[in-house]
Amino acid sequence: MKNIGRCRAHTNIALIKYWGKRNNELFLPMNSSLSLTLDAFYTDTSVTLDDTLTEDVFYLNGIKQDKTETTKINRFLNLFRETAKDNTFAKVESYNHVPTAAGLASSASAFAALAGAANSAWKLNLDKQTLSTYARQGSGSSTRSIYGGLVEWNMGEGNLSETSHAIEVDDASWDLGMIIIAINKQQKKLSSRVGMKQTVDTSPFYPVWVTEAKKDLIDIKQAINEKDFIRLGEITESNGMKMHATMLGATPPISYWEPDSVKAINKVKEIRNNGIPCYVTMDAGPNVKVLCRQSQMSDILNKLEESFTNDQLICSKVGEGIRELTDE
Ligand code: DP6
Repeated sequence: MKNIGRCRAHTNIALIKYWGKRNNELFLPMNSSLSLTLDAFYTDTSVTLDDTLTEDVFYLNGIKQDKTETTKINRFLNLFRETAKDNTFAKVESYNHVPTAAGLASSASAFAALAGAANSAWKLNLDKQTLSTYARQGSGSSTRSIYGGLVEWNMGEGNLSETSHAIEVDDASWDLGMIIIAINKQQKKLSSRVGMKQTVDTSPFYPVWVTEAKKDLIDIKQAINEKDFIRLGEITESNGMKMHATMLGATPPISYWEPDSVKAINKVKEIRNNGIPCYVTMDAGPNVKVLCRQSQMSDILNKLEESFTNDQLICSKVGEGIRELTDE
């Protein structure tokens, strides 16, 4: 038997962040989050079911991966094997399409693409909402990459896995874009998984973060309804800063920032003070992401080029949700 499933998924950047799990095994978050799917970064994955295999094998960008990486894939595919009631092993081949300077390999697009490809390979026909609950169990942020545009990951209830899923809030076809300022290509020093657990366990600010994130989500959804870009940007910037402040309160303190992150933030403020609205957000690394209007991207880019090299700046339009790849 050689069933093949192929899928493309784009990465996403959270405007309201996910930072902390209430259930570490099921990847159930402490708060709901909301993101923008990006066109510029994506993963293509194929899953080939092969009954001559005695274990799963995993190739990333053409390179066979070691046991640690393959075990993660194996555990994830077990979810699909259980659903399909079929124990066949698979060959997984993934390609990350990421502008090289960025070094932004993303678990969000990786597990969303893998979920989509596994769904096709086992011919499960799971709907997108259900698929998002599977993607979640590979990496939380990949829950949102199942859909395009502006996407909410609803935290769900208690320990009920099926209630914690993504929904498309808006197709974001109203003049939105993002510029990534790549500060450092190195792998992050502390994974999000470890960083968020340390924050939940030790930061005295954590309960306040959860309360604030809930309020921010309500407000940002209203801004999205009203297509109010300024409000959208203000809430995004404020929510990201609150997440990083909460991490600083952990023991030991966590900071992903580098001097050039601060330089980028100050430059964006300068551009904004000169009349072009644009707002920053940062994740578990030093890169700075600039939320802007697509129509003002080239003006902003010109200004950013005064402080950063061309290959540090990557522009992205809004991206789409997962897509089955046929014969491409
Ligand atoms: C800061 O999804 O990478 O990017 O669920 O443990 O795999 P795991 O974590 P991950 O965390 C993402 C954290 C973030 C914020 C966000 O994307 O919401």
